[in-house]
Amino acid sequence: MGRATRIGSGSGRYSGSNSLGQDILKGEEGDAVDLKLAGRGYVVTGGSRGVGKAIVAVLLAEGARVATCARDAEVLAGVWGETDRVLARSGDVRDRAWMREFVDESAAAFGALDGVVANAGAGVTGGVLSTPPGVWRDQYEVKVGSVLNVVEPAVGYLALSDSAAVVLVNGVTAHAPEPDMAAVSAARAAVGSVGKMLAATLISEGIRVNTVNLGAIGTDRQMAKYTAAETGLDFAAWSAEEARRRSVPVGRFGRAEEVAPVVALLLSPLASYVVGAGVDVAGGLGG
Ligand SMILES: NC(=O)c1ccc[n+]([C@@H]2O[C@H](COP(=O)([O-])OP(=O)(O)OC[C@H]3O[C@@H](n4cnc5c(N)ncnc54)[C@H](OP(=O)(O)O)[C@@H]3O)[C@@H](O)[C@H]2O)c1
Repeated sequence: MGRATRIGSGSGRYSGSNSLGQDILKGEEGDAVDLKLAGRGYVVTGGSRGVGKAIVAVLLAEGARVATCARDAEVLAGVWGETDRVLARSGDVRDRAWMREFVDESAAAFGALDGVVANAGAGVTGGVLSTPPGVWRDQYEVKVGSVLNVVEPAVGYLALSDSAAVVLVNGVTAHAPEPDMAAVSAARAAVGSVGKMLAATLISEGIRVNTVNLGAIGTDRQMAKYTAAETGLDFAAWSAEEARRRSVPVGRFGRAEEVAPVVALLLSPLASYVVGAGVDVAGGLGG
């Protein structure tokens, strides 16, 4: 514990860039901020790709140990199979019994649990009247269900930590619904509500709960939309066009590496007075 770790990493272990493409996460050694995550144990769902993978990478860079899960065992093993301090298991966040086993195994492997990041999820397009009833139910299960499935079994372990935190990865559609993503937007609004209730309920156990609301982040999820759109543009041109169409004030999609440090800070004891917050990481979208 107490190793000098950094938000602005002088060693360039992770990096991000601003709208001008300047590197904003590289700092001098003197800029180092110790997030006090070293030696701690975290569960991050959906860590095989995109935002979850970037969160695992940042927590590892900060010296933490991380347990992560995803359904595709091969992809998971390819990404984290050889990495020290990572416990990677394949399973489905919608399966409460499996999630309990996974959380128990993680806590046993680490000897303690200091935090949970409920990140895994997937979206679907469809309007408010054209989305079939089953899709509304599926979205509720994958978004609200997956949060409760990982948080509930973790509470007993987290209550023993001197700095316990939960971060829910949500979307700005929670408060700025997108008409062509009706079921996603409604399920995200529900996650926002669940986040506030969890924050109010768990603070008496010393567990801080906060939510990050993502805008358009350029992961596989956006790549799938790009492929489906068949515009003939390359991904960079399509995403710039999409950012314009959706009036993203920053004028571009975000990157997973621009989300992960925010999550790490919310997990950190440095954020000890941040409780029940909804932090938009969206380039100004939905504000
Ligand atoms: N990217 C965006 O623009 C955006 C915007 C708003 C909100 N979000 C939310 O942010 C989170 C991360 O998004 P992302 O773009 O990084 O997504 P992504 O690239 O599609 O990655 C999703 C991760 O979650 C895992 N996952 C999905 N469903 C799962 C399930 N049922 N059980 C276990 N693992 C599952 C995936 O692995 P497997 O497929 O192998 O299971 C993968 O590791 C998601 O909750 C997403 O809805 C993203």
